[in-house]
Amino acid sequence: MLHRAAITIAADESAGCFLLAYLGDDPVGIACLETEVDAGLLGALFVVEQMRRQGIGAQLVSAAKLAAHTRGARMLYAAVPQEFVVYLARFGFTETVPAEVTRTIAEASMVLPIRSDEMRRCITLRLDLSGEPWGIATA
Ligand SMILES: CC(C)(COP(=O)(O)OP(=O)(O)OC[C@H]1O[C@@H](n2cnc3c(N)ncnc32)[C@H](O)[C@@H]1OP(=O)(O)O)[C@@H](O)C(=O)NCCC(=O)NCCS
Repeated sequence: MLHRAAITIAADESAGCFLLAYLGDDPVGIACLETEVDAGLLGALFVVEQMRRQGIGAQLVSAAKLAAHTRGARMLYAAVPQEFVVYLARFGFTETVPAEVTRTIAEASMVLPIRSDEMRRCITLRLDLSGEPWGIATA
């Protein structure tokens, strides 16, 4: 999936987790998440082309939000090209300054590319997780 999504992860960048969507035994989507203290970074989101527009991307975003929350994140960040800002806005992401991301998640390996020339063209987004209804089950 990393190869199909053109996601490059260095061998020593093991701080993140990968959420995979499956159709039977076949992986059809991936979301990459990295958390640090009380913040998370959605590093990548990808659904295989023939499986798009069926809600898999939305489910991966939901899973990433829950995983970030479980790891203690109160804020979830993302850095995406302009053309995906509208998609993530569906889930409540709003634009923020890159400095907020780099300041809040200073050590995350996925933050490092945000400082590179290529990633400077990306828009940084934030989503406040503290108001989410997590639906904690009661006995
Ligand atoms: C973006 C992506 C993850 C969405 O996956 P998906 O499984 O098709 O998403 P969903 O089924 O939850 O949502 C589909 C809806 O999002 C819309 N959508 C898809 N890409 C969009 C975009 N870039 N901007 C705005 N809307 C977009 C579709 O038109 C569709 O709209 P509809 O519900 O009105 O039919 C997928 O298109 C993808 O992998 N794109 C290439 C990888 C990529 O660039 N990822 C970065 C995303 S931040």
